[in-house]
Amino acid sequence: ELNIQLDKPTGKISPHMWGVFFEDINLGADGGIYAELVKNRSFEFDQPWMAWKKLENGPEGTYLLLNDSKRKGNKRYLRLNNTTNLKLGLQNEGFRGMGVKSGEAYEFSLQYQRAATGMKIHVEVLNEQNKVIGEAEFPLNAATSWSEAAVKFSVSETTAKAKLNVWFTGSGTLDIDMLSLFPVDTWKGRPKGLRKDMVQMLADMKPGFIRFPGGCIVEGKDLANRFQWKKTVGPITERELIINRWNTEFKHRLTPDYFQTFGLGFFEYFLLAEDIGATPVPILNCGMACQFNTGEVVPLEELDEYVQDALDLIEFANGSIDTKWGKLRAEMGHPEPFHLKMLGVGNENWGPQYIERLAVFKKALNEKHPEISLIASSGTDPEGDRFDFLNEKLRAMNINIIDEHYYRPPSWFLSSASRYDNYDRNGVKIFAGEYASHTTRPNGPGKSTWEAALSEAAFMTGLERNADVVEMASYAPLFGHVDGWQWSPDLIWVDNLKVYGTPSYQVQKLYATNKGTSIIPIKREGEPVAGRDSLYASAVYDDLSQQLVLKVVNYNSKPIKVSLDIVSRKKLLATAQKITLANADLNVSNSLEEPLIISPKEDTVTYKGKKLVETFEPYSFTLIKMSTK
Ligand code: AHR
Repeated sequence: ELNIQLDKPTGKISPHMWGVFFEDINLGADGGIYAELVKNRSFEFDQPWMAWKKLENGPEGTYLLLNDSKRKGNKRYLRLNNTTNLKLGLQNEGFRGMGVKSGEAYEFSLQYQRAATGMKIHVEVLNEQNKVIGEAEFPLNAATSWSEAAVKFSVSETTAKAKLNVWFTGSGTLDIDMLSLFPVDTWKGRPKGLRKDMVQMLADMKPGFIRFPGGCIVEGKDLANRFQWKKTVGPITERELIINRWNTEFKHRLTPDYFQTFGLGFFEYFLLAEDIGATPVPILNCGMACQFNTGEVVPLEELDEYVQDALDLIEFANGSIDTKWGKLRAEMGHPEPFHLKMLGVGNENWGPQYIERLAVFKKALNEKHPEISLIASSGTDPEGDRFDFLNEKLRAMNINIIDEHYYRPPSWFLSSASRYDNYDRNGVKIFAGEYASHTTRPNGPGKSTWEAALSEAAFMTGLERNADVVEMASYAPLFGHVDGWQWSPDLIWVDNLKVYGTPSYQVQKLYATNKGTSIIPIKREGEPVAGRDSLYASAVYDDLSQQLVLKVVNYNSKPIKVSLDIVSRKKLLATAQKITLANADLNVSNSLEEPLIISPKEDTVTYKGKKLVETFEPYSFTLIKMSTK
C-alpha cells in the first residue's frame, strides 16, 4: 500500500524544474535546428572548398579566394574572374544533402560586390538523380560595395539529399560571399531562422529552461576555439566561425566538416527560450579549455576578459537599452529584457584551477549582480568520492547551484533513485544538468531503448521527490542527426526532413508537462517508494489545475497491483486521467520509420473514494491525474 499525504506537502517545485540542454553536437545547430541548407556558405572552413564543387573550371585564376583582414568576422570571400564570358558555376552538397519539401518555398541569397551590368545568377535545386526540382534566375544590380541579393522559388519534389547549383553569367569580375539557402517556412516565419519541426518538439515539452551552449563546446578544443558569446551576436555576416569541439571527435564517426557558424547565436538563443516559455541558463567558459582536448588554462592575471564577458552577457540580456550591450539587443530587435536569472561558469572543469577561477567570477558577479544565481560545475563518481573535495569547496564558497552530470547504465539509475533523499535541505541547490541512461556504454554507441527511458523515469521519481533540493534537471544530449553524430543516445533524432522523439523524450515530456507546484509525500511503510519490488513513485500537486499527479514506475516483467491510500481533507473527483508509457520488451525503441512505438496511451479511469487499487502494467511508467475541484 502506498500512502499519499495530499495535505502535507514537503516542499515547492521550481517552475524551471524540467528543462532541456542544447549543445551543438551531433549537428544539433549547424546542419540541424539552424535551418541554413548551405554548408560552408562563407568559405570560412579551414579547407575553404569543403562542401563546394566548381561546375566549370575556366582558365587559372578564374576562382580566387581572397582574405580581407579589414572585414569583421567573416574575412574570406570568392572572386570570380570571368574574362571569357563563361557560364561559371558552384555546387554545394549541404549538410549530408539538403532537405527540401515539395510545394515549399526557399530563399537563396548572397552577398556580392563589383557586379557589372548584365550579370545574372541562376540557382537550381537538384534531387539525388541530378534532376532540377526548383530553380530561379535574377539579375545583379551593378554594385561596387558589398550588397545583398535574394530570390524565392519553390521546389517540386521532396528529398533529404538535394544539392544546390549556383550559376553565374556575364563577363567581368564578381566577388561573392554568404551563399545561403533557407526554407521560407521557419519557426515563427523568421527569415533565416530555425527548423520549425525541431523547435516544435522542444515547445511541446514546455521546458522550464534551456541550458546553452554546452557542454564541451563552452570549453572548446583550445581557448582560442572556446565559445565566446560576443562573437555570436550582431549581424550574421560578421560572426566569426570556429571549429566545433565535436569536429572529428571519434575515429569511427568522422565529422571533419563540423564548424560553428553561430547563425544560432546568443540573441537567437534568448529568443528561442522566450518563445517556448523557458528560462535561459547560459553556461560560460571559466578560463579553461576542454580537459579531453588541450586542457589549456588561462593565467589568473588574464582572467578579466572572461569575467567581463559574463558581466556583459547579463547586460546584453537584462540591461537597459542605454547600456552598450542592451543597446545591441535593442538593435537586434528586442528592446525588452530577456529576464536572465541564472548563469553557469564552467563545464566539467574539475580541479583546483577551477575553484581558483570560479572564485574570481563569483566575487565580481556577486558584487555587480547579486540577483543572478551562480551555477558551478561538478561531477558524480559511480565508484567513490572523487568529487567530494570539489563539492565541499563549492559548498564552502556558497555557490547557489551545483551542476552534476551522469551518463551511466540503467542499473545505476535504478539504484540511485534515493540519491538525493539525504541531501542537506537548507544547503546548495542541485542542477542535474546532463544525464542519460546508457545501455551499451562503454562498449559502443548507446541506443535510446525503452530500458534506458524507463530507468530514467524511475530515477526521476527521486528527483521529483527531492525537488526542494534538485532545482533543475535536463537530459543530454538533446539532438542527434542520423547521418552525422558523435554521441548516442540522444533525446531527439532527426534527418534532413523528419524528427522523432525517443522513449526518453516521451518520459521527459510527461514529467515537464506534469511538473506540479508542490511535492506530495508518497510512502510505503513510511519509506520512499524507491525500488522495492521494482516499484518507484512520486507525487505532486499543482496549484493552478488543482490536480494531484501520481507518477509510478513498474520496472518488472509482471504487472503489479497496488493499493493507494490518499489522505486528504480535499474532495477528489471520481474520474481521473491515466497516462501510460509501457512495453513488455525493454529493447524496443522509436525510430524515424516508427516514431511512436513508445508513446503515451491515455485512459479515463473511475475511482471510488480515496482508497484505490490500481494495476500497473509490466515495464511501465504511469501518471494518474486526479482533480480536487
Ligand atoms: O552531452 C555530451 C557531453 O557530455 C557534454 O558536452 C559534456 O559536458 C559531457 O561530457
